[in-house]
Amino acid sequence: MTKLDFNDRMLSLGLARVSEAAALASAKLIGRGDEKAADQAAVNAMREQLNLLDIAGVVVIGEGERDEAPMLYIGEEVGTGNGPGVDIALDPLEGTTLTAKDMPNALTVIAMGPRGSMLHAPDVYMDKLAIGPGFPVDTVTLSMSPAERVAALAKAKACDATDITVCVLERPRHEELIEELRRTGAAIRLITDGDVAGVMHCAEAGITGIDMYMGSGGAPEGVLAAAALKCMGGQFYGRLLFRNDDERGRARKAGITDFDRIYTRDELVTQDVIFAATGVTDGSIVAGIKREVGYMTAETILMRSKTGSVRRMIYRNPTK
Ligand code: FBP
Repeated sequence: MTKLDFNDRMLSLGLARVSEAAALASAKLIGRGDEKAADQAAVNAMREQLNLLDIAGVVVIGEGERDEAPMLYIGEEVGTGNGPGVDIALDPLEGTTLTAKDMPNALTVIAMGPRGSMLHAPDVYMDKLAIGPGFPVDTVTLSMSPAERVAALAKAKACDATDITVCVLERPRHEELIEELRRTGAAIRLITDGDVAGVMHCAEAGITGIDMYMGSGGAPEGVLAAAALKCMGGQFYGRLLFRNDDERGRARKAGITDFDRIYTRDELVTQDVIFAATGVTDGSIVAGIKREVGYMTAETILMRSKTGSVRRMIYRNPTK
């Protein structure tokens, strides 16, 4: 049997099945107040499906270090082994609290690229900045102040600062950021969780109404968001944030030496990737799981950066 090539288009369909399976598995736990159970259901299903794929995969962004995550840990080998060597970045349930509380924009997320294509980001915070496609490079940068970014994007869009909407995670650590943004007159879409979706919103500003994403969140989610924007178009910048020596140690272990580096989208994800995300709860990127008598329906966004293709696929799965 000939081995699949990474660019084989069937591989992308396989990846969509992996994210679909995770979302369907967590469906019973939507709105049940149990984050852990929802996450575990998604992890189990994602791993099972991933191991059916003809790839020699290694998890580079996963559920954590081997000692804290029994499954889909960083370094775990996945797939049948009979296929291309690939790196996998995943978040089986991005928005565990959103799922437990049945709030919008919980997703299952997975990205796959050739070996060495994605930053092995440690589980620390990352300062993030994103805008959608169609703007000159460095229209906004992490070295600008939040107010300067709003002014620069408004200029590039030939609109007023009051016409810009910025998406920000609602956290006490973002109080100053939010105050500064308020002074510019920009609108702020506050989200309680789920910054992968937050960043992806920028790529479809016409639909989501979000022009820019700003603020800190998980570094692993930053790499996944960069992979999404590499497919959808748009600019992304990330800088790792360290709170203590333990976190710096984790970064060193992952091979990171420059702790102040600002990474662009294409430095976080250096080669072509395939990205799949399935809606768990309803959101502005994809619809959530619908449960009806006899079947469930899942919507998946499946994208390849090589071609810039963005597919939305509806899967009807009989439950009996
Ligand atoms: P989980 O689904 O793993 O709980 O992550 C949700 C999330 O909101 C991410 O989208 C985001 O990057 C991170 O948590 C933010 O971290 P914190 O809650 O510590 O501010």
